[in-house]
Amino acid sequence: MSKMEKMWAGRFETALSEIADDFNSSISFDKRMWKQDIKGSMAHAGMLCAKGILTEAERDNILAGLEGIYNDIENGKLEIDSAAEDIHMFVESVLTERIGQDGKKLHTARSRNDQVAVDLRMYMRDEADLIIDGVKAVISAVLEQAKANTDTIMPGYTHLQRAQPIVFAHHLLAYAMMLVRDVDRLVDARRRMNVSPLGSCALAGTTYNTDRAITAEKLDFDSYSLNSIDGVSDRDFCVEFMSAFSILMMHLSRFSEEIILWSSWEFAFVELDDSFTTGSSIMPQKKNSDMAELVRGKTGRVYGDLFAMLTVLKGLPLAYNKDMQEDKESLFDAIDTVKACLEVFAPMISTMRVKRDNMYKAAQKGFINATDLADYLVKKGKPFREAYKIVGTIVGHCVKNDTVLDDLPLEEYKSFSEVFDTDLYDAISLETCVNTRISQGGTGPESVKTQIEFVENFLK
Ligand code: ARG
Repeated sequence: MSKMEKMWAGRFETALSEIADDFNSSISFDKRMWKQDIKGSMAHAGMLCAKGILTEAERDNILAGLEGIYNDIENGKLEIDSAAEDIHMFVESVLTERIGQDGKKLHTARSRNDQVAVDLRMYMRDEADLIIDGVKAVISAVLEQAKANTDTIMPGYTHLQRAQPIVFAHHLLAYAMMLVRDVDRLVDARRRMNVSPLGSCALAGTTYNTDRAITAEKLDFDSYSLNSIDGVSDRDFCVEFMSAFSILMMHLSRFSEEIILWSSWEFAFVELDDSFTTGSSIMPQKKNSDMAELVRGKTGRVYGDLFAMLTVLKGLPLAYNKDMQEDKESLFDAIDTVKACLEVFAPMISTMRVKRDNMYKAAQKGFINATDLADYLVKKGKPFREAYKIVGTIVGHCVKNDTVLDDLPLEEYKSFSEVFDTDLYDAISLETCVNTRISQGGTGPESVKTQIEFVENFLK
């Protein structure tokens, strides 16, 4: 591979070895920031002119050159040369090739250290917006399913044992709440990240009379970094986004796990649409929840990206070190992975068919209404602990006699406590169990309605 002549070659007697050059190069992955790099350079050139460091003619020449490069890359007329060291060197060298001497003035009062930092922040900002929209699309899909299932009764679980009856909407809305917090975290990280490092230069600032407020404003940053060393060496925003991504993926992974379980014949609570499932090459009957399994699997990958980033930064002295070039691949991988997962997740949820009857049947068997039977006794005047003990004995009796609470005759109930009456059967019906859970945040209809309204308002 023939390499470009280095802009920094002046100080060296022999050229960089080809092995070292390949090892050092980041163009294969940082080329995806070409738009941000050109926009950053445009803002920089504009500022240099506003401060009298470039003439208007020089600025116009540079801006026209950069615009040409932008359009040509966009239209596929200019290919990003893999022989360049990185995207910053590539853009600057093409600019100089095209417009001559003025191109060489662009890098005045700038370093690649602040340049890469501003590019990366701008890139992350654009991607953050897309990811926030992606999470909202999933929330919206979950919300629609919740609205369609406000009276779909299912078992709620603890320890993966049937615990108490709930409505499916309530279960789904638990995920909506997690995802709402995820959006919140992303928005928060985006706000903290939106500070321009441009103008920090190599690390110490510059002797030119620049104005960093001009570039910050032009590039839609809320402010500029107050410490130039911090400006070039801070990668907190990468760690923050990847942490938020990891939490988001953890939520999607838990949800995926449940979808996989619910899709099994053992549960048969939901059926994923054919368009979001795959078959087996050998077992003709199989319908696999591959999308959910992949989301669960890719969660590990995003955690790995976060750890790679934390480990790169750990122990790095100030300010810029080449180690920091390693920030990009893990960040990009995390971004790509999260986006792909969100993209498949929303329609997978929207098209999921809910098997209401099976959910109901699963809630009927067993002793899911035992708490409600104890509550029945409490409402008739028994202290809770005593009521709990009586119901426990009745459950034991039912298990021994292969029956359930709903089928046990009243006379037998009476042998455990005189307080029992015919109204007990209604008190432990699944509908009563669900509809009378009136506490705030419970599975009762009022609370579910409140939750739906909350999520709807959040999406507005
Ligand atoms: N490709 C480099 C990176 O991604 C750009 C910054 C290079 N700065 C330097 N001082 N060598 O980090």
